[in-house]
Amino acid sequence: MKISFTEPDLPSSGAVVVGIWEGKVLTPAARRLDEAAGGAITRALSAPSRFNGKKDELLPIVGPANLSASRIVLAGLGKPESVDSRSLQQLGGNLVAHLNGAGEEEATLMIDAAETSPIGQTEASAEIAFGAQLRSYRFDKYKTKQKPEQKPSLARLRVGTSGASTAKRAYQPLEKAAAAVFLTRDLVSEPANVIYPETLAAEAERLGEFGIDVEILDERKMRELGMNALLAVGQGSARPPRVVVMQWHGVKGTGGTRSQPLAFVGKGVTFDTGGISIKPAAGMGDMKWDMAGSAVVIGLMRLLATRKAAVNAVGIVGLVENMPSGTAQRPGDIVTSMSGQTIEVLNTDAEGRLVLADALWYCQDRFKPRLIVDLATLTGAVIVALGHHRAGLFSNNDELADRLIEAGKTVGEQVWRLPLAESYDREIDSDAADVKNIGGGRAAGSIIGAQFLQRFVNDVPWAHLDIAGTAWSTKDAPTVPKGATAFGVRLLDRLVSQYYERE
Ligand code: BES
Ligand code: MN
Ligand code: ZN
Repeated sequence: MKISFTEPDLPSSGAVVVGIWEGKVLTPAARRLDEAAGGAITRALSAPSRFNGKKDELLPIVGPANLSASRIVLAGLGKPESVDSRSLQQLGGNLVAHLNGAGEEEATLMIDAAETSPIGQTEASAEIAFGAQLRSYRFDKYKTKQKPEQKPSLARLRVGTSGASTAKRAYQPLEKAAAAVFLTRDLVSEPANVIYPETLAAEAERLGEFGIDVEILDERKMRELGMNALLAVGQGSARPPRVVVMQWHGVKGTGGTRSQPLAFVGKGVTFDTGGISIKPAAGMGDMKWDMAGSAVVIGLMRLLATRKAAVNAVGIVGLVENMPSGTAQRPGDIVTSMSGQTIEVLNTDAEGRLVLADALWYCQDRFKPRLIVDLATLTGAVIVALGHHRAGLFSNNDELADRLIEAGKTVGEQVWRLPLAESYDREIDSDAADVKNIGGGRAAGSIIGAQFLQRFVNDVPWAHLDIAGTAWSTKDAPTVPKGATAFGVRLLDRLVSQYYERE
């Protein structure tokens, strides 16, 4: 789908979309269009219908008289004061779905912000375009037999707005964000026979093109560093593990806290069978997206680099495949992690924490970052606790936690804080080693996972996002078609821009 910005004028073909405020109040663009269409909008609004102009409501008027446009779509905007970046993104996304459903090939959107809206006109236009773009994502490269009517029809989207060139400029960073989100979604969607540690590392390496320094640690290097917890997870697989270190240097000069990097660490289990503690067959295919945390880190690094963020950032991903085999680790094995702490592996399916234990330790040891945020599809238990609408947030730092919560609300990637406490921590004390990788039972599974990770970070401000419930969606949402969501890319980009690029 191609997006362009033009000064508002009546299109000669395709759909034309105008906004209606709650209570059926016409926006200026709707009034102009109503006049041109001989009162078609006023008539439609007075006919019996559920359309009131509330947010998310859409009303099509097909084949309007006096116009060469194929249809008018009235878009409910809600109350002028409540129109913000997020509601406009959602509108853009909803419109793409609606117009594709209708079979339209082109559309012109003329959506007015109001004086009282907390967003200006050109910015509003850019946000609509962003939402439209995010919703237009598809992963259909392996579908070779699609009929034309199964493919999206909408090929061209024009955003008609006064100050079109300013809106186009405002859209540029958003377009970069969408490209990063699409990269993450692609990586997460790919099956595990295509994306495995070496190929995922190769994908990360391509970020060099945007000015990111990429290093790939192979098995020899990892053994030298003592990453035995991570290596143990990978030892049952024919695919050798990798750790990738990505660095973005957006701060000129050295010294001072400004040059200390922000660090992002991702779980990259390219397939999680559970290992010897093997998972049941039903739903195991989902475990191709057990590398979503790493894909979010890769997408985020791309975004920070392409929009030339004024921060230093490091992204570290631990890439392994968790397989059962004659060389796989066994329940009861004890490994010495890079930190020196010994881990009793009582369940080989609690593997993400083993990968992150070494990745987190390596991260803080080498980079002395200002903060670390890790992302991991760590526990099924977080889905039990929060479902698919919030990621679990754990942190040793209230300020960082609050900032993540705030950023999440702004971008619509919400997180919910769960506790860390010594009483939970005691549950992972091992009889045989320093720590065991599971607790005693099924209680508080996500907290137990987070407690385990916390043993591998020292005093650095750290947050852990358990994205097992939010990385993949089985339902369409306004800006996220079903499938890989890339949950976390926009959240962490917002965290960086809102709090760390300004000081
Ligand atoms: N990758 C899974 C968690 C997961 C489950 C992600 C469902 C997405 C959807 C993780 O490695 C895992 O297997 N966790 C175990 C931990 C348990 C053995 C303590 C779990 O959640 O059952
Ligand atoms: Mn597992
Ligand atoms: Zn896993």
